[in-house]
Amino acid sequence: MPKSLVIHPEDEMRLHLRTLGRPEEALFCEYMQTGFAVYAMIHEVVRRLGRQLEQVDSLLDFASGYGRVVRFLLDDLPATRVTVSDIYADAVRFQTEEFGVHGVVSKAEPDGLDLGGPHDLITCNSLFSHLPEPLFRSWLIKLAAALRDDGLLLFTTHGPHLFDGHFAGDFAFVPSSESRSLDVQTYGSAYVTMAHVERLVQELLPGRKLVASLARAANGHQDVYVVGPASMATITDADLSLPRVFVDGMVQQGDLVKFWGWAFSQVDGRAVRRLRAFVDHQEVPLATITGAERPDLLDHFPNASQQAGFEASFDLAQWMSRRVFALQAEDDHGLRARIFHHLPF
Ligand SMILES: C[S@@+](CC[C@H](N)C(=O)[O-])C[C@H]1O[C@@H](n2cnc3c(N)ncnc32)[C@H](O)[C@@H]1O
Repeated sequence: MPKSLVIHPEDEMRLHLRTLGRPEEALFCEYMQTGFAVYAMIHEVVRRLGRQLEQVDSLLDFASGYGRVVRFLLDDLPATRVTVSDIYADAVRFQTEEFGVHGVVSKAEPDGLDLGGPHDLITCNSLFSHLPEPLFRSWLIKLAAALRDDGLLLFTTHGPHLFDGHFAGDFAFVPSSESRSLDVQTYGSAYVTMAHVERLVQELLPGRKLVASLARAANGHQDVYVVGPASMATITDADLSLPRVFVDGMVQQGDLVKFWGWAFSQVDGRAVRRLRAFVDHQEVPLATITGAERPDLLDHFPNASQQAGFEASFDLAQWMSRRVFALQAEDDHGLRARIFHHLPF
């Protein structure tokens, strides 16, 4: 099985999905799907800022966990150009062994930690959403210091809309999190306004500025920020809602697998014409018919095109291990979603 489909049994992102009551067989698929969605967001934000992931010489994924996102970043970058860092030594070891990336074991506080670099791009999905304000500040300074002068730091936070209760002020910290082992005083749940993040960047990172502030751009959930050089043009209101894609059914007829479903852009509702399929992470040539009428979708998605239906098939014979099927939908805006299924045969 390709390494990018291995999940570490202690991965807290997977264990968290289990606590939300997801059935065991769905955990793998949801883990991969959400990891891909974060990757697709990063790819697109970087592209809209005029850069390309493929051309990044040195990427640091900080607070990488066990590599839910990194495995997809490796679609664009060789492992030799990627460093991961997490406070869990096991998580770092897993990724260096499985993916061949460089690894740095982190600490609760940034003093004295060597993050390598300088890096062209640092990604940090869902750490700042857990830090009390003093650590929020010190990790912001630390990560920016590991960037090249023209480098980019992309991080996510919980916006006030995610706060349970009345949100007063600019920053709220609750000592509670999904982690089974980290101290809730230093890794809890944090909520911050966009205006406050803007002020912190201005105050703490001279020579840099926020070049992107995107509300709920991480899976429609966390806010996304990018710190970049002061000279860079800024993006504020990009709609990064990823396409919706769904497989209604799948059958095997001899060596042929047929499946059908629907896919549309959440930005403009138009049907998605570009579908790609993967079996065990290897792309399989697809025969696809798109544009099938799906008026039933309007009951759930009033913006969706009525022609969002598709039928597709591929030849299974040559795909030996035949475990995981993934379907990727790409819309006219370059936004991509990938869903995963265990093959039923
Ligand atoms: C919500 S998880 C996100 C993991 C990963 N970015 C993802 O999206 O799958 C947050 C991660 O931050 C890590 N973490 C917490 N404190 C840290 C620190 N001081 N330095 C580095 N990583 C830390 C945790 O171990 C955990 O893996």
